[in-house]
Amino acid sequence: MTVTFKVNGKSTAVDVPPEMPLLWVLRDVLDLKGTKFGCGIAECGACTVHLNGAPMRSCVIPMSAVQGATVTTIEGLSTDGSHALQRAWEELDVPQCGYCQAGQLMSAAALLAKTPKPTDADIDAAMNGNLCRCGTYLRIRQAIHRAATMPAVEAGPSGAASSARAARRS
Ligand code: FES
Ligand code: FES
Repeated sequence: MTVTFKVNGKSTAVDVPPEMPLLWVLRDVLDLKGTKFGCGIAECGACTVHLNGAPMRSCVIPMSAVQGATVTTIEGLSTDGSHALQRAWEELDVPQCGYCQAGQLMSAAALLAKTPKPTDADIDAAMNGNLCRCGTYLRIRQAIHRAATMPAVEAGPSGAASSARAARRS
């Protein structure tokens, strides 16, 4: 089937089987390899992207559910790494091997979009499904708190919330 949807602000059409998972299309058809394959069964969070603004496991979303949707991947969080979370991640040197981090960032971005000043409990609840074999959880939590204090630099495809956050602060 032909699926037309928006990825990182750009309209895209792909001709793929309706049951093909979104993750396959992102990585193998659109060459957006920042989103990672971990478990393939919605258990690890490595493949997290935003679907219509909500964090979703792209390994279990069939393309039939993506028709007309808006998808943001880690490549679209900002065009230049200037999203507050990306800056905080760098400042606090969060990643170890890095494999889980795109998914962590996408879940964290969805959290901050909804809850600009999250508590530890908010963070734990939102990040609960994102596993990290390297155990970077404490730095992730610190970096989310740090990002919540930073001004938004750029509103990317997922940046409406960043803009809203900046507006709320001003
Ligand atoms: S690869 Fe999708 S949740 Fe693990
Ligand atoms: S940084 Fe290695 S799995 Fe999370």
